[in-house]
Formats: sequence, C-alpha cells, structure tokens
Amino acid sequence: MSASHQLDERARAGFRQAFGYPPGAVAVAPGRINIIGEHTDYNDGFVLPAAIDRHLGVAVRLRRDARVALRSDRYQAAVELDQLPPRRRGDWSDYLIGVAREIDQRHGPGPGFDAFVASELPVGSGMSSSGAVEVATAVALMSARGIEVAPIETARLCQAAENGFVGAQTGIMDQFTALKARGGNAILLDCRSLQDEQVPLPDGRFAWILADSRVRHELASSAYNERRRECESAAAALGLTSLRDATEADLERISNPVERGRARHVVSENSRVLQAADALRRRAPRGLGPLLYKSHESLRLDFAVSCRELDCLVELAAGVPQVIGARMMGGGFGGCVLVLVEASGLDDVEQHLAEGYADEFHKSPEFYRVRSVDGVMPERTS
Ligand code: GLA
Repeated sequence: MSASHQLDERARAGFRQAFGYPPGAVAVAPGRINIIGEHTDYNDGFVLPAAIDRHLGVAVRLRRDARVALRSDRYQAAVELDQLPPRRRGDWSDYLIGVAREIDQRHGPGPGFDAFVASELPVGSGMSSSGAVEVATAVALMSARGIEVAPIETARLCQAAENGFVGAQTGIMDQFTALKARGGNAILLDCRSLQDEQVPLPDGRFAWILADSRVRHELASSAYNERRRECESAAAALGLTSLRDATEADLERISNPVERGRARHVVSENSRVLQAADALRRRAPRGLGPLLYKSHESLRLDFAVSCRELDCLVELAAGVPQVIGARMMGGGFGGCVLVLVEASGLDDVEQHLAEGYADEFHKSPEFYRVRSVDGVMPERTS
C-alpha cells in the first residue's frame, strides 16, 4: 500500500471510530523538504521544495446543522463548537477552522462538519505539517461541498487562512508544494509569478535524510513574523515593494544593520536557489553541497534563525565523507537539518550524527529518510 493510501485508510478508520459513521470525503496531503530557498517565499523570491513520503489525512462529513466537531490522532482533546468561531483558539483546530472560514468567505457559507485528522508528520519539525493539514482540509471540504478550484487557488486560500486566521505570516511554498509536487522532482517556484518548473532530483545513488534536533521554540511564530517585517522594512528603505528586486549593490544603502543582514540573506539565497536548480538540471548533485552549506551560514548569521543544536548537526554532517551537503530547513529556531548523502553511507552518517549530538546535548536526534512523492493534485500537462 502506498504511503498516501495508508493515511487515507487511517483517516477513514479514525473518523468512523470517532463519529460512528463513514466520512463523506477524504484528502491526503504530503509534507515537504525544501532543498534550498529559505525565507525567500514571502519576499517574492525563489524556492526549491519537494513533497515527501510523510503524509497527513483529513476525513470530513458535512452536517445538517452549523456545529463543528474535530478529532485528531495526535491530540486527545476533542473540539466541539456550535459554529465556526470568529477568532483563533490557539490550538491545532485553528488550521481547520481557518480554512473552513476562508472557503465560506470565497464560496458562500457552508454547513457545519465533522472532521478527523490522521498524521505521520511531526509538528514543529519544519516538514510543514501545517501546510499539509490546511491543504488536506481544503481539498476534503471543497470536495464534500462540490466546489472545484485550480490548485493555485487552493494554495492561496490555505495561505490566506494561515496568514489571516492562524496569524502566521507565512509564504505560499508549503501549500503550493503539497498540491503540485511530482515524485522524482523538486519544484523551482517563482513566488512572485507562481510559475513553476519541475526539476529532476538526484538519482538513487543519493538520498535525503532529515535529522530532527527535537528542539521546538515557543517563540518561533512571533520571531518568524518579525523576520518578515524586517524584510519589508529593508525593501521599503530601498524604495522596493519586495526584496526580490534588490541586488547586492543595493545592500549598503540599507542603514539599519539588522535589516541589511536580512536583505543580504534574501538576495544571496535567491541566487543560490537558481544555481541549485541549474545543478539539478545538469544532473550534477554534488554541485548542491557548497550551496547548502552557504545557505546554512547565511541563515545562521544574516537571518539569525538557526540555533546551537542545528549548527551542531550541520557541523557533524560536514565531517562525514559520504555527506554532499547539509543545512537547517524550514522556518528555523529548531526543527530539522536536511542532509544530502551518498545512499551507500546512510547508516554511517546517522550513526555519526547521533553520537556527536548525544555527546553535546545528551539526547538523540530523530532521523527520517525521505523520498519524493506526488502532491495532492500534480498537474501532468504543464
Ligand atoms: C515556513 C513557512 C514557509 C517558508 C518557510 C521558510 O515553512 O510556512 O512559507 O517561509 O517557513 O522558508
């Protein structure tokens, strides 16, 4: 059974057990890795993500009344509401409620619903469980309501729910990837035009490992929003609407040193994304190595979103001959390091990282060996 099929089954079975009747619609969405292009999406820049074989499924059934009942195999507490609340509650239900409200706003008010979430995506690890739960909720609810929209519109709707209702000022990378990825490929996405190009991932001689530091920072979301404001302020200082149009030569015109650093990261990272896509197109995966390490340094020093645990994992990885490159991945302040390795060295690399990390922090990282998969609605004709 495929990884996504398993989650479909789990969501169906969980729903039936929780509510006593079968769901009306089920959708399964993947998590993602981002090869390179961190904190560039909300700056109208470039990203290079791929969907991975770790999924989340949402099963729903529309109700005759306005009530909303939510269950999850992650969290014990059930959520029971008389109707969709106008403000966030500050827990996992916000993602589902935000998406349902966004659908109502765009397509007219719908009835209440029961929903069950089954997940194999760790929360806060940087694999985008939030993007996956938004996309799976949107696809399942719209299918139950008979609403059809293009994948890009679904991605925008989910991003609007996260920005407006959940309150995280994230970009569109995660939702776009969960919807439009194709197995065996990364997506080179221009976050300004939303033009995407499928770029072939390295062949089976290479593999991706996620090393989860198991650090989760409470303040990650407020620090993320702060980074976004700093980028907007840096763009404004240059008279630009986004840092996408900034060049290296512009940087010295930004007088605030913190904002200059943020801008330097975005400018240099955009250029690294294009170079990385080029290496993949040329089937030269070793060319990714220096770019991944430089990306990490830029996120550590200029963007200041790394932490000691992530730096330690990258340093350890750099010391293993079978490692091509490594860097922190996702929003930062904890979560995972992405490591590109020679497939023959998988065990050695994990052992080296586990030992070195335990020496320093007295705990083990969690490892995920991930493969690329299709998104929910990959477009085959583009
Ligand atoms: C989170 C956000 C994305 C992106 C990354 C950082 O995953 O959801 O939109 O900004 O952080 O690259």
